[in-house]
Amino acid sequence: MTPLIAFSDLVAGYGDTRVLRGIDARLMPGRVLGVLGRNGVGKTTLMRALTGFIPLMQGRVSLDGRDMAKVAPQHRLAAGMAYAPQEDTVFGDLTVNENLRLHLRGRDLGRYAPYFEAFPRLAERANQRAGSLSGGERKLLSFARTLALGAPLSLIDEPTEGVQPESILKMGVLLRRRCEAGGAFVVVEQNLSFLQQIADEVLILDHGESVGAGPISDFSRERLESHLAV
Ligand SMILES: Nc1ncnc2c1ncn2[C@@H]1O[C@H](COP(=O)(O)OP(=O)(O)OP(=O)(O)O)[C@@H](O)[C@H]1O
Ligand SMILES: [Mg+2]
Repeated sequence: MTPLIAFSDLVAGYGDTRVLRGIDARLMPGRVLGVLGRNGVGKTTLMRALTGFIPLMQGRVSLDGRDMAKVAPQHRLAAGMAYAPQEDTVFGDLTVNENLRLHLRGRDLGRYAPYFEAFPRLAERANQRAGSLSGGERKLLSFARTLALGAPLSLIDEPTEGVQPESILKMGVLLRRRCEAGGAFVVVEQNLSFLQQIADEVLILDHGESVGAGPISDFSRERLESHLAV
């Protein structure tokens, strides 16, 4: 079976600086890969390399067997890859609803019903500027917008940063529901409980290198914890 996303020998960085040095992984549809590692190890750099926002110095990325090398970042959503970056996730001058409508052809917000139900704060603030939301609420908005796209693969960078615990649990439930419908995810995360709720597999980064990869059940809680920011 062709993996949904596969990357191998990935080298990427900024200018002449190599941040990632030879990263590999493959992920089947309906599965979740959790990427973890302490601050500054290269997690966000990996997401940017996979989504094409920074060029590869070496290696390759394929989506459902198709080489992504020539697909520009702005065309990767159409190719099946949605991306929720760690920062600058929403447009502060637009309202919550306007942010949610950005990617919709029609203006019908119906597809967001499960997200408004799970996160009533978003519904209550539908007509407020997104810039007036708290950091955690902006993360929820970005999460809802990304999941509702229904892309075959979604890459989400630290979705739970600043989010309330009860909303984090609901994020996990909504994400796993998308997996049951065939969606796959690469999620950078520092929250161990959330990782254990969502991830099938993990990729552990340290100083730009992979120091552990495989089914999350192969890793003890202590081992995972030792690679998280405290
Ligand atoms: N735009 C950039 N230009 C130059 N160097 C950068 C840039 N962004 C990140 N770096 C450097 O690349 C390295 C990896 O950063 P990255 O943001 O990928 O880490 P991270 O694991 O996502 O960290 P965090 O947990 O804090 O989000 C760091 O040394 C960082 O300083
Ligand atoms: Mg980061």
